[in-house]
Amino acid sequence: QAGVFTYDPGFTSTAACDSTITFIDGTEGILTHRGYQIGELAEKSHYLEVCYLLLYGELPSPAQLEEFESLVTNHTMLHEQMMNFFRGFRRDAHPMAVMVGVVGAMSAFYHDSTDINDPHQREVASIRLIAKMPTIAAMAYKYTIGQPFIYPRNDLDYASNFLRMCFAVPAEDYNVDPILSRAMDRIFTLHADHEQNASTSTVRLASSSGANPFACIAAGIACLWGPAHGGANQACLEMLKEIGTPDRIPEFIARAKDKDDPFRLMGFGHRVYKNFDPRATVMKQSADEVLELLGVENNPILQVAKELEKAALEDPYFSEKKLFPNVDFYSGIILEAMGFPTSMFTPIFALARTVGWISQWKEQLADPQLKIGRPRQLYQGSDIRSYTDIEKR
Ligand code: SDX
Repeated sequence: QAGVFTYDPGFTSTAACDSTITFIDGTEGILTHRGYQIGELAEKSHYLEVCYLLLYGELPSPAQLEEFESLVTNHTMLHEQMMNFFRGFRRDAHPMAVMVGVVGAMSAFYHDSTDINDPHQREVASIRLIAKMPTIAAMAYKYTIGQPFIYPRNDLDYASNFLRMCFAVPAEDYNVDPILSRAMDRIFTLHADHEQNASTSTVRLASSSGANPFACIAAGIACLWGPAHGGANQACLEMLKEIGTPDRIPEFIARAKDKDDPFRLMGFGHRVYKNFDPRATVMKQSADEVLELLGVENNPILQVAKELEKAALEDPYFSEKKLFPNVDFYSGIILEAMGFPTSMFTPIFALARTVGWISQWKEQLADPQLKIGRPRQLYQGSDIRSYTDIEKR
């Protein structure tokens, strides 16, 4: 139920909706999913178990987890006719453009899971989306690099399947590196859900009109693409590369502080966190681990990132405005070290966030009172006035 509540001492906000899924304390830098802290989930759980938690509210029993993982694994293939849909795009299309199009097109292929009033169809759509997103993202990538699609395999876990679909080629065997698979799974977990962010609010708003689940998720993907939101991971790595060396950091810090310069430090700041984003803390640890295990711990971009973070945190402009690194600051460094081009960073974010969008979509459908109502405005335009014929204008 939308209402006004006191969020922090002296800080009030108008809530978009009630929810029981994710809690963020922006002042303390706390993020929980169904009460479990993100740092503990990232360390002790894995993505599909976090998906179960977000979807159903509790950690699964061994039998429940086995059944859920089997269900997801056995729905990873796409309708074969959808391959034609991919081929309608230009080869140089951004993978996010392909994902928006293909996920929206699922409305035309999976008719038996579009009736939002049928709980069974809602469940089928949920599983299909979570299961097929890695396949769609990997195929979007393969298509843009001109390589053949690699089909999913049922003997691989979720993250390993995705890595293999992205990096395997028919000409040779591909063995998934367990280090990369664990890092990939952790990145999925860190991006799974995040309360009422812009793309989740978009999904809820689309859902409130009764749109089918595939159309709602396509709307979420479109919103996530923006550089101020999910596109920040790509923008951040491109910024770090533009900085290039630590001696250029002061120049970019000065630009970020300049009111007349639209430049912002990508991967820094957050609408809610006025403390460290707890996901950034885990991501930074993961960056150190993965790059060391890959033997690229001396990656100059990682050094620039660490120096930039240090310089910004020591600068009064950022500390006074409570600007800290967010989830996007280190993620791109890991993804590039894993072999992904920057254009695949946001598709990976979208893949991981699908379970959050779906969980919030299901929560809203289960209780229409939770839906984000029709936003109003404060009209600042002209008073009512009469039409003037063109001859008199
Ligand atoms: C995500 O909502 C979510 O949960 C999103 C997300 C999720 O998981 O779904 O967490 C994912 O989107 C993370 C954010 C990724 N975006 C970026 O990293 C892009 C860079 N960040 C900025 O664009 C910005 O920080 C925003 C958009 C994220 C937030 O902008 P706000 O709402 O303006 O932030 P603010 O109110 O805290 O800003 C306070 C001041 C402002 O200046 P003044 O008007 O007070 O003079 O700080 C400035 C801002 O202009 N500021 C920055 C800055 N971020 C805010 N100045 C320089 N560099 C920055 N990065």
